[in-house]
Amino acid sequence: MNVDVIILAAGQGTRMRSALPKVLHPIAGKAMLAHVIDAARQLPNSKLNIVIGHGADQVKALDNGDDIQFAMQSEQLGTGHAVQQALPSLREDSVSIILYGDVPLISVATLETLLDCTKDGQLGLLTAIFDDPTGYGRIIRNESGEVIANVEQKDASDEQLKVQEINTGFMAVPTKHLIEWLPKLSNSNAQNEYYLTDLIEMAASSGVGVKAVHPGSRAEVEGVNSRQQLIALERLFQRQQADHLLVDGVSILDPQRFDLRGSMTCGTDSSIDVNCVFEGNVEIGSNVVIGPNCVISDTTIGDGVEIKANSVLENASVEDNCVVGPFARLRPGSVMRPGSKVGNFVEMKKSELGSGSKINHLSYVGDTTIGSNSNIGAGTITCNYDGVNKFKTTMGDDVFVGSNSTLVAPLDIESGGFVGAGSTITRTIKSDQLAVGRGKQRNIDGWKRPTKDK
Ligand code: UD1
Ligand code: CA
Repeated sequence: MNVDVIILAAGQGTRMRSALPKVLHPIAGKAMLAHVIDAARQLPNSKLNIVIGHGADQVKALDNGDDIQFAMQSEQLGTGHAVQQALPSLREDSVSIILYGDVPLISVATLETLLDCTKDGQLGLLTAIFDDPTGYGRIIRNESGEVIANVEQKDASDEQLKVQEINTGFMAVPTKHLIEWLPKLSNSNAQNEYYLTDLIEMAASSGVGVKAVHPGSRAEVEGVNSRQQLIALERLFQRQQADHLLVDGVSILDPQRFDLRGSMTCGTDSSIDVNCVFEGNVEIGSNVVIGPNCVISDTTIGDGVEIKANSVLENASVEDNCVVGPFARLRPGSVMRPGSKVGNFVEMKKSELGSGSKINHLSYVGDTTIGSNSNIGAGTITCNYDGVNKFKTTMGDDVFVGSNSTLVAPLDIESGGFVGAGSTITRTIKSDQLAVGRGKQRNIDGWKRPTKDK
């Protein structure tokens, strides 16, 4: 079966009060429309048709995949009119399924169920039962329980308004019927719009028939018209992601204060404290403890690692049994070999810290390679930048750098090299040498402290 997906994304989203087209507003860091596109792509033999209008250029720039065709709807004359704009690029032998750029959490499973409804040539309709159906189209059934029509809120009689089965908007239909029926739509209704939902009555009265199914959850069919609704779906989605991780054996101390904007894999018995944000692709091993308020992006973390509170890791690799933070910052290209330690107010960039080595306090280490079991004292700074070019620092194994040292790159400290505290080091330190680069101490006898004038 070929599937032609039609995604309606032409609306303005006035109530968002935003320069950004509504469908580009993010859920979990990803545009709502991108969520819908990703789901659509998982359907068998799918081709995507996106109906655009408001902010067309911005929407087009989101994804230029070969499987996407854009159709322009310059005037929003109704959902039926919107789908009509995609007609020229549909395949006659396909099944068409209609999705919405502002209904981002629809699941692939539900879409497959909906597509299945068309197996015998029927029109598939996704409906739901709402306690408060206000605003939605109402599903009208005959005495035998068959769906015969949809009536929009504004066109409904008092009796019809009492119906609690609503139209979610999602519909699947053999494309040959779309081609036949769409040109027959009229706009003589309360809103003077071409209603896509009029196809329901056409399917019923022509003998094609309508098969209605329900979504897996209400969140899947929830649309976004305002920032309140956007944020409500954001929290719902985050809660779902947290629940998946809990099921997988990760402890999330407060699932209401968990944010994953991307994808994350996690071993067992790891725990994540409150207010952590994960972005991009994050891989976490087993028995990892992540403290509160950490931001971790595109990073790999091995087994038995402890990331303490308020640490920020980006594009880093932290191998088994390392300790990071509190208040550590690992910038892109930071690699910590097993059992190494980076402590508070330490910044690392494009640097490798060998196994068992430590940078415990208040340091900047950039463009540096450090061997194993070395100790970098508090306040050590690698001076890797002369204002124009960047230079590298290399340290071997068992190096000791005394506190408050300034290491001017390019620089080489061989294994066993020792730097006296407070030194400014500019030349190679050979294996097992002590380097001291500081003013000599003078002690002055009989020193009189200043006194106040009388
Ligand atoms: C529609 C359904 C209604 C259903 C509800 C579910 C129709 C006539 N009604 O009503 O039965 O209960 O969705 O939310 O279909 N759009 C375009 N171009 C247009 C018109 C709409 O791209 O010309 C897009 C909108 O941006 C929006 C979506 O289609 O994303 C739905 O349009 P909207 O006007 O919100 O439909 P509803 O009145 O909510
Ligand atoms: Ca709507």
